[in-house]
Amino acid sequence: MRLNSPKINIINKACIKASRSLIRDFGEIEKLQVSTKGPGDFVTSADRRTEKIIIEELQKAHPDYGIITEESGIINKSNIQNRWIIDPIDGTMNFMNGIPQFAISIGYEEENEIKCGVIFNPIMNEMFCAEKGNGAYLNNSRIRVSNKKKIKDSLLVTGGPKQASKIKDKIFSEYINVSTKVSNVRKFGSAALDMAYVACGRFDGYWQRELNYWDIAAGIIILKEAGGFVKFFEEEPNFPLKKNILASNSNIHDEFSELIIKKNIE
Ligand code: IPD
Ligand code: CA
Ligand code: CA
Repeated sequence: MRLNSPKINIINKACIKASRSLIRDFGEIEKLQVSTKGPGDFVTSADRRTEKIIIEELQKAHPDYGIITEESGIINKSNIQNRWIIDPIDGTMNFMNGIPQFAISIGYEEENEIKCGVIFNPIMNEMFCAEKGNGAYLNNSRIRVSNKKKIKDSLLVTGGPKQASKIKDKIFSEYINVSTKVSNVRKFGSAALDMAYVACGRFDGYWQRELNYWDIAAGIIILKEAGGFVKFFEEEPNFPLKKNILASNSNIHDEFSELIIKKNIE
């Protein structure tokens, strides 16, 4: 069985097409042109190429849809009803270093709600996808979050801080606090895959501050459709594309929220 719907098919097709050049680029990383967007923040020619192919493919299907992208900004700004949210390579740092932990991430949003999404790691050939009401899948198999009952037994994943972060101390002390209360914490370098891995039960939970919407848009629906809970915290109304997120299976969600959110309110 696999997830089959018009929107998912459009996204899948765009992912497969874009992944061909991405796989080629990954085999020749020494030839990539790399530029710096800010301290420790890089963009490669592969990010730009991948994004271009994805935009072209999605526009063939719906030329009028809005698009929020990491590298090209916002396209068709006036359409806020129907929007694609694209991260062409989530995990660029891994990609540049020859580490196969990166993914294309594409979400589809309708009236401010993510309705479907795909996260594709072309090197591992793992395609995670979900559509509202129709479940979440890894390739052809239905996926579910883990069944871990207690936060103290949980394996969590997180990321950050970015080099330019102004709240590094807060993020590090949060990391120490959480680490002492759970089984262990990993840092894998791709927010999209971190979310997908919680969705399929490899991790029990994920949290991170200072993300961009495109890092997690597809992950939100994949995680929810896999039976997980997602919470945004300390939201900044003036910056709707900036996100702090906490996501986990339903059993540990309250305990996990208390650990991250209550601690910061005290
Ligand atoms: C980054 C990855 C990383 C996270 C950073 C993101 P990029 O995305 O998701 O895991 O820690 O906050 O910016 O730059 O590789 O697309
Ligand atoms: Ca990203
Ligand atoms: Ca990216």
